[in-house]
Amino acid sequence: MKYSRIVGTGRYLPEKVLTNFDLEKMVDTSDEWIRTRTGVERRHAVADDQTTSDMCVEAAKVAIEDAGIDVTDIDMVLVGTTTPDLIFPNAATLVQHRLGIPPCPAIGMEAACTSFIYALTTADKFIKAGEAKCALVIGAECITKIVDWTDRNTCVLFGDGAGAVIVKPSDEAGILATHLGADGQYKELLYYPVGASKELHKAGTDEAAITMVGNEVFKVAVKTLGNVATEVLHKAGVEQSELDWLIPHQANLRIIQATAKRLNLPMEKVILTVQDHGNTSAASVPMALDVGRRDGRVKPGQLVLMEAFGGGFTWGSVLMRM
Ligand code: UT7
Repeated sequence: MKYSRIVGTGRYLPEKVLTNFDLEKMVDTSDEWIRTRTGVERRHAVADDQTTSDMCVEAAKVAIEDAGIDVTDIDMVLVGTTTPDLIFPNAATLVQHRLGIPPCPAIGMEAACTSFIYALTTADKFIKAGEAKCALVIGAECITKIVDWTDRNTCVLFGDGAGAVIVKPSDEAGILATHLGADGQYKELLYYPVGASKELHKAGTDEAAITMVGNEVFKVAVKTLGNVATEVLHKAGVEQSELDWLIPHQANLRIIQATAKRLNLPMEKVILTVQDHGNTSAASVPMALDVGRRDGRVKPGQLVLMEAFGGGFTWGSVLMRM
């Protein structure tokens, strides 16, 4: 066994849809501004009583069926999220129990929008080390629960959802290269100001909301996403012209267009979901992968580059053959 390989995918989107026109009624914004500045047209939002692990379970069921495996085959669960149900147990442990997966390592990965790429990279290393034979890897987010719905700078951007993949060992490629990074010097540009050991008393108040200097984040995102893409291509000895698909984090259509341009990739080779999902943070890449596979665009054997960028800043990329 030389590689780990994604053998099944699934996604879950909450029922409730908020269009740009709905947001026009909530804050001083317009469909035109949101579409031209971000590419977002609509986003899904969880119900009040719905949690991240609820969405994880639904996305995982679809991925398990797609992979043709049984829950008892799974021997590792990783959930990348910034919005876990609880501080502990972590979301992966909740998912393990709720799906009836036998006791196994259950890891919560917290790297903002890059959380799924961090989780998938970790699964890849466990599988290659022979420590896992079937990993359930999920990126999920209830990001609408931590947004200030009176702040037009942020509330128009985000949406909820979950994307899941099943990863198994394989003699054929498979994940070819991964690259992760982080630099905490940018913390002030994008963060959530409440945590378990700091400012917990602000939870549930107006002060608990995503804080972002959007245009500064934008600049670093464009530069970094170009670099993380070339980094994995270089590691794997693959030319960018060989790529079949780019599946980027879906934060902003303009960031995605700039990244594609840097890679000399036509937009026809980019899977886009930002218009329908908004920025779903950790869920955006696995959901976009699932969309591309299920509508028949992303085919077995094709070369796919996934990448993400988020608060911290954190970043990461995975190059793989489907
Ligand atoms: O997922 C993790 C990483 N996150 C990202 O990658 C997000 C990166 N940043 C962005 O995508 C963009 O910076 C935003 C979409 C957040 C903002 O777009 P922008 O083109 O950078 O706009 P801006 O922040 O420079 O603001 C331009 C103007 C401002 O008005 P003034 O000061 O020029 O009069 C804002 O107040 O747009 C105004 N504005 C809005 N107007 C209508 C900001 N938000 C809105 C809004 N509706 N929702």
